[in-house]
Amino acid sequence: MQYGVAYYPEHKTREELQQDLKLLKESGINTVRMGEFAWCKMEPKPGDYRFDWLDEVVTELGEAGIKSIICTPTACPPAWLVYAHPEVLYVDNRGEARPFGGRRFYCYNNPVYREYSRKITEEIGRHFGRNPFVSGFQIDNEPAQEASGRCHCPACKSKFQKYMEVKYKTIEEYNKRSGNIFWGQDYNSFDQINPPVNTIEVSAEQTLPVYFENPTLRLEFERFASDSQIEYQNIQADILHQYSDYPVTTNGTGLATNSIDYYKSTKNLDVYGFDFYPGLRDAAVDSFPYAFARGVKDGKAFWVMEFMSGGGHRFCGSGRVQPNPGALKQAVIQSYAHGADMMLHFQFRTFPFGAEQLNYAIVDMDGIPRRRYYEMQETARILNQLKAYEHAEFVNEIAVCVDYDVHWALRIKPVNDPDFNYLDYAGRMYNLLEDAGYNADVIGYDADFSGYKFLVIPSAFIADRRFQEKLRRYVDNGGILLSTFLTSAKNEDNVGYTDSLPAGLNDVFGVTVEEVEPVFETNRTKLKLNLGNAVLESSDGMWSDLLEGNAKAIGTYTQDYKTGAMAVSEHTYGKGTSCYLGTDVDDESMMHLFAYFCEKAGIEKNPVCPKKKVEVIHRRQDGVDYYYVINFTAKNTSLLLEEPMEDVLNHCTYQQEVPLDRNGFALLKRIDSQLRFTANP
Ligand code: GAL
Ligand code: ZN
Repeated sequence: MQYGVAYYPEHKTREELQQDLKLLKESGINTVRMGEFAWCKMEPKPGDYRFDWLDEVVTELGEAGIKSIICTPTACPPAWLVYAHPEVLYVDNRGEARPFGGRRFYCYNNPVYREYSRKITEEIGRHFGRNPFVSGFQIDNEPAQEASGRCHCPACKSKFQKYMEVKYKTIEEYNKRSGNIFWGQDYNSFDQINPPVNTIEVSAEQTLPVYFENPTLRLEFERFASDSQIEYQNIQADILHQYSDYPVTTNGTGLATNSIDYYKSTKNLDVYGFDFYPGLRDAAVDSFPYAFARGVKDGKAFWVMEFMSGGGHRFCGSGRVQPNPGALKQAVIQSYAHGADMMLHFQFRTFPFGAEQLNYAIVDMDGIPRRRYYEMQETARILNQLKAYEHAEFVNEIAVCVDYDVHWALRIKPVNDPDFNYLDYAGRMYNLLEDAGYNADVIGYDADFSGYKFLVIPSAFIADRRFQEKLRRYVDNGGILLSTFLTSAKNEDNVGYTDSLPAGLNDVFGVTVEEVEPVFETNRTKLKLNLGNAVLESSDGMWSDLLEGNAKAIGTYTQDYKTGAMAVSEHTYGKGTSCYLGTDVDDESMMHLFAYFCEKAGIEKNPVCPKKKVEVIHRRQDGVDYYYVINFTAKNTSLLLEEPMEDVLNHCTYQQEVPLDRNGFALLKRIDSQLRFTANP
């Protein structure tokens, strides 16, 4: 377990450095990340590599027991490189090259840039690869962040044309599969294909706002750009692996940018790393990004390379509020509870200069430690106590499935824009399961489904034949599957199926979709859910699929022309059960629906009564159940227990109720776990 900060020794005067190193050593942290923007200092002139300044810091920290994560500095090429080779610059969808002067202004496909990146990475690998004070490497910094993941330069354009040619072989095949006859768009050859001018990138501008390009072409460009960045990252990963046995990763943007398919990008990395900046003032920190992170590499511990450190100024927009006392500590423990084994705050000491001048940090510009520093110190101490539980497993029997093709397709041609956001919706499913008392994993479409009793698949808008088969087998073998509106509407070419929907799955769900529409405030309709003992009223939301078929209607519309139509189905298929949720229902109904199927699946609820804004995270170690409980209610509260539990940190036992301070947390141990496992192996 590693805990620490990002640090920038290249910014410091001798005195500042000495002052900072002293504080770092006294803080109790064990890791510092350095170097990601320091190319001009590592290689001030072409081929003149200098690491002495960094060695000095790595050694001094190392001798005090603090390990270094060394970054490759490729997010910021030095001026000499850019001016010698201006063709390495990033060109956005408007055709504008990013000039030297910001960051992330390079093209990941450019061969010259790849060559320089190779060289600096090789030097870093050779220099730090076996250093005993180093514990890992970070490649670049936030690939694709700040709208830098969809380069349109000439190198990218011709590489994209090649990609299309390799994939489709003949232009006739491509024309046919993407339906280019629509608006008379048939191409004569692959070299006529341009990267689309519209983009899904967060904070990019549309070149031609009302210009509708072919959705197949657009999805292909998303895939191509994502693959290209993975290829670029892997050039560096391969080199680092050649020189070092230390783990190699990069810091993804988690669920914020999403222009890289992290399931693919992490294959050649040793661990999935990402950055996360949640609000910490009376705010419940959404754990969906953590559950997602855990699923990226099949449940392996993940790294949080940058994490909130405080409030104050911010480098864009307005400032950031300060965390409540205790909130930093609480949030770090929460990420640890969810499976992080690296937690690094961004960053140690406030910058006086540069684009991020005056921004929040652990220590202010004057270098005087104040409450955030002391809180970090205390957090380090608690993490040490929790180390004994670091190998506790996750034993969740429920998974929420997400997919990048689906995400991209829904960004390219949205439904109910801006209300329906695919990843937010998947997050909503995850959070409502938690509110109902159940922990879930978050996994990709390629993951192994067989260990889960209950799968929740939000809007599988794109479902290829293989995925349809996978779902069929899952249910046939006894799984319980809940899929929502928009399931299996399009194929992998981002083209609609001409079968009845959900395509290829009518028999599995026992329904066909008869009619569809978005749900706005003006056409919201009532429906009734009938879940065994519980009858609930809800309204529809986001999108509405009207269903028909031999499945049992467990939800029926009760208003408008939809009255009597099936909204939610339940169907037995093989040894399993499927549910098609034709619309979004309110929180209460959703929680009931989840509980209804969890009970059917025989999934045990956490033995802690769920309470809004108190998170419960179940882990198991050596056959003993542990529950982290985290109080986000912004006041002192307590949580009712179904059975007595031991408080691991406070060494006491609670019979019926755990008290929780504002911004507090506890690690509870189930007292009778051992008995339960012997009785029910
Ligand atoms: C991240 C970035 C850091 C820093 C931080 C500021 O996205 O990786 O370098 O800019 O945001 O909030
Ligand atoms: Zn390019």
